[in-house]
Amino acid sequence: MKKILIVGAGGQIGSELVPYLRSIYGNDNVVATDVRECKGLADDGPFEVLDALNPTNMASAVARHNIDTIFNLVALLSAVGERNPQMAWNINMNALFNSLEVARQHHCAVFTPSSIGAFGPTSPKDMTPQDTIMQPTTIYGICKVTGELLSNYYHQKYGIDTRSIRFPGIISNKTLPGGGTTDYAVEIYYEAIRNGRYTCAVPHDVYMDMIYMPDALRSIVELMEADPFKLKHRNSFNVASMSFTPDILAAEIRKRMPNFEMSYDIDPVKESIANSWPNQLDDSCAREEWGWKPQWDISSMTDDMLAAVAKKLEVEKK
Ligand code: SER
Repeated sequence: MKKILIVGAGGQIGSELVPYLRSIYGNDNVVATDVRECKGLADDGPFEVLDALNPTNMASAVARHNIDTIFNLVALLSAVGERNPQMAWNINMNALFNSLEVARQHHCAVFTPSSIGAFGPTSPKDMTPQDTIMQPTTIYGICKVTGELLSNYYHQKYGIDTRSIRFPGIISNKTLPGGGTTDYAVEIYYEAIRNGRYTCAVPHDVYMDMIYMPDALRSIVELMEADPFKLKHRNSFNVASMSFTPDILAAEIRKRMPNFEMSYDIDPVKESIANSWPNQLDDSCAREEWGWKPQWDISSMTDDMLAAVAKKLEVEKK
């Protein structure tokens, strides 16, 4: 990875991946793009407005900047996808298809996030294996499974260096996720600081995998830098870090804020999605093939999130 193009850079992952990659590979070597202007991404390096659904414009950016690696971060998340499945398919699949095609024409590597949402109700719920039944029931998950297969196809047929991670819910404090089933685990920290209480849309006892953003960023670079000869899998790797229910996360916050209150107002769409996803993934292939190891747990993450969100909301008030 010497010259990187990120499409969909303005979202939850991109807004932190761009500065992270720039700190490693150099500001000028990470070209951030998004369908709209993004505050912040143009400050330290190149930024362009680019619609990933337009393959001609994507190819032109790749050629102009001499790109060797594309990060395709364009996606509608699971809950918002259920409101408009046709739009979710169009955006999620065509941004990936264009990234793969441009990569084929310009000899680039491609990273795409997959998700725990690629699994469904017929997948084993506990220690969900790397290779198992994948019959998701959301349009988001259907796009993820299709994307994994398509990315493997481009590797096998054209030799494109495609790699991917099945991310758990990503918890972060820079940009809100927006439209996912795991969003509660981000919102809870903001509401704890703002109001001391949170109303959760996901049932109190549903386990889902989660990961803190610093671990997610590190995992992406470690996978992309991994020796290709050691990779038995490519699209996509299970990674695990922590798994908890809303009740467990609320209890963790209460250890630091004893008066924190949690109530529930269940969103039936999120409930059914959450119930269809695994409790916890088995990430042994990622550990064996490229040395994956998480560094954050629910306790260290909660300390860090509460401090970071408090600071952010304080600054916003001024
Ligand atoms: N965080 C995503 C969602 O909830 C899952 O990958 O949709």
